[in-house]
Parts: sequence; structure tokens; C-alpha cells
Amino acid sequence: MKNLFTFIFSVAILHSFAQVNPKLQTKIDQQASELEANVIQWRRHFHEFPELSNREVKTGAYIAEHLKKLGLEVQYPVAKTGVVALLKGAKPGPVIALRADIDALPVTERNSLPFASKVKTTYNEQETGVMHACGHDTHTAILMGVAEILSKNKADLKGTVKFIFQPAEEGAPAGEEGGAALMVKEGVLENPKVDVIFGMHIISISPLGVITYKPAGMMAAADWFSIKVKGRQAHGSSPWMSIDPIVVSAQIISGLQTIVSRQTDLTKEAAVITVGRIQSGIRENIIPEEAVMAGTIRTLDVEMQDKIHEKIRLTATKIAESAGATAEVSIDKKFPLTYNDPALTEKMVPSLVRAAGKEKVMQIPAITGSEDFSEYQKKVPGLFFFVGAMPPNQDPSTVPSHHTPDFMIDESALLTGLKAMLNVTLEYMYLPANK
Ligand code: NI
Repeated sequence: MKNLFTFIFSVAILHSFAQVNPKLQTKIDQQASELEANVIQWRRHFHEFPELSNREVKTGAYIAEHLKKLGLEVQYPVAKTGVVALLKGAKPGPVIALRADIDALPVTERNSLPFASKVKTTYNEQETGVMHACGHDTHTAILMGVAEILSKNKADLKGTVKFIFQPAEEGAPAGEEGGAALMVKEGVLENPKVDVIFGMHIISISPLGVITYKPAGMMAAADWFSIKVKGRQAHGSSPWMSIDPIVVSAQIISGLQTIVSRQTDLTKEAAVITVGRIQSGIRENIIPEEAVMAGTIRTLDVEMQDKIHEKIRLTATKIAESAGATAEVSIDKKFPLTYNDPALTEKMVPSLVRAAGKEKVMQIPAITGSEDFSEYQKKVPGLFFFVGAMPPNQDPSTVPSHHTPDFMIDESALLTGLKAMLNVTLEYMYLPANK
């Protein structure tokens, strides 16, 4: 056991070395405020020219150019259209990865912003607009800002910062690899080996400037499923000659609803099954041969996840069988559970408080949205948090949610996000254990 003197002495040493110099913190906060207008400008650029998952070619090139100008070691493209850059601090220390996702969604923007997206494309054989309807444009702009400010302060940095601009967070197109899983596969967490990773998400439906987080399981595991129902084609006037896959599909959809509402213990954790797409038929008077539906499953517990998968298979195949049809079920595990390392989370909360203010940092219950940030967290400890960006004077119960044409954020949240990422990075570098 240490004597009191040694104890006091080591506490004193810890204090003199462990913390970021307050002058440096103040300087960096100041630089964040000065860069705010640029970050907003970058965000508007990405917002106006959004690109879908694995197609972020111009977005990636724009980011890479910015990072090269800062004098960073830049790798582009990585995992199709991603960008990775290294910033080496003047002093030894940990390798800290910071991640932003860069892709947009097949959603047609509905507002009169001067920088609203007019981009159109074909997705899943349908005409659609393309929109940054999840705010990844803000994440990209914020991380570009973080890179710029940290580059200016190289002399004071301990360790290395690895900037990860990741494509396809929303999911790669069918048949393609992409997103965080592909980044990890291509070695983004190696060379140099990443010790810790931080990421954030802007949230249009939570109060402006408020940072929220949850230790341990924060965001649900997401799986995608598809069910192909095969019946028998016939003339629409004589359904008795058919095995109607549309009617069978309707029964399957109703059956799936009872898995969560009647077969899952909802006092333990929440769960969601959504059928988001159904396709069948070509003409009014033809009963088609096939129907295909596809959807998503969200779970916050691994055991519950396995059980729900099993029940989906059972429900679909047995209902189809009862009608003389067949159902082919495929389930694709998309994203694991987003898991914030509890010890790391506790250490970093003061940095979040520094960035947003004491009353503006709070814990939240788990949510059923998913994040492929979880792929990195499977390999290294990580912290993911939310930055509220709800425009003022909005009713939280009716404010447009993410992935909708009316999705809207208040740009003043970008400064909060910028400060939070900067503070977390800087303070992690100076944690006593990381000397
Ligand atoms: Ni998102």
C-alpha cells in the first residue's frame, strides 16, 4: 500500500500531466467558432450535391482534396469511395480514429432552401430524388473542420488522429459490399492500429445543441429480410385456378406483426419488424406467380434477435404452406448492436459537457435506429453520441424525422458537433493512461 505522501505526490503528477492545457482548449474552441461559417458552407455544398451509398465519388474527391491541402497523409479511395487521412501529432500518444459517414438517401427533398438538392436518380427501378435526409452532410463537414483545426495544432497533439470518411452507412446497393464493414475489412483499424474510435450523429428531432448518449447498448442491431412467395399464376377472373401470392403475402405481413406484439417479451427490450417494400404483379387482370416483400428487424438484445429470426422463418413458411404456396425467407444481418464501452463513455462525458454545457448533456434510453459504427466498436472501444439539431419553435411530436422529404436541421448544431469531436479527441490524448 502506498503511503500518503506518495499518494499525494502521484495525484499531483497526474494532474500536472493528465489534463489538456486550458489555454490550448480555449484556443481550439476559439478556432472552432472561427471555422463555423466554413463548416456550414461545406455542409451546404454536400447537401446540394448528395450521392447515394457507394456512389459518393465527387463527395470523396472533395473531402480528399481538402485533407491534402491540410498536409495530411490521405488515402483515397478506400472501401469504394471513402477517404482515410492521418495526422501525426508532435508528441507520442494513442491512435484515435474519428469517423463521419458521407452518403445520402433516395428521398426527394421538399423545401425551398437555396441549397436544396435537385439531384435525381433511379433506385430499385424507381425514379427518385437524392437527399441528405439523415444529416450525413453535417457529419462530413464537421470532420473536415476537426481535421483543419487539429492540423493547425499539431505541435500540441499527443499521438495520431485517423480521420475516417466512410461511404454507404445506409447500406450498400444489393450485391455490393460497403460501409463500415468494408472499411474494417480493408484494414482501416490497422496501420497504425487504432486504440479508440469516436463518432457522432446529428438528430433533427432532439433539442438544439443537446448532446445525448447511452453507455453499453445504445442503438439496435439491424437485420434486413426478404420473403419470396411463390404461388400459381392465373387469369384474374378465376382466382380458384391460382395460388394467389398477393393474398398470401398479405397474410404473412399480418402474421409478422404478431411476432413482436404477441410473441416477444417487450418488458425486456423493444423490438421492431417492418415490411418496407412489397412488389408483385404487372396488370389488373393477372394473378401473378410471385410476390416479394422486404423489410427490417431491429433488436436490442442478441438472444431476442435470434428468436425473432426463427419466428419470421416459421411464420412465413407455414402461412405460405397453408395456402399451397411456398415462401423463401432470407435474413441478412446488417448492423450489430451499437455498443458504447462503459468505461470509455464515463471518461469522455466531461469532454461532451465542455462542448455543450452541463445542462445540455444527458443520457437517453436505447433507440431502435441502427448505425454501422457498431462494426468498428466490435473491434475497438468506441463512443457514439448524438447532437440535437431540431430547429427552434418546432413541436417535437410532429417535427419531420430522419429519412423524410421534410427532414431539416438547425445549422447552429454544427458548432456543437465540431467542439464535441475536438474536445473528445484532445482530452483522450491527455488521459493519464494514454501518456
Ligand atoms: Ni444516419
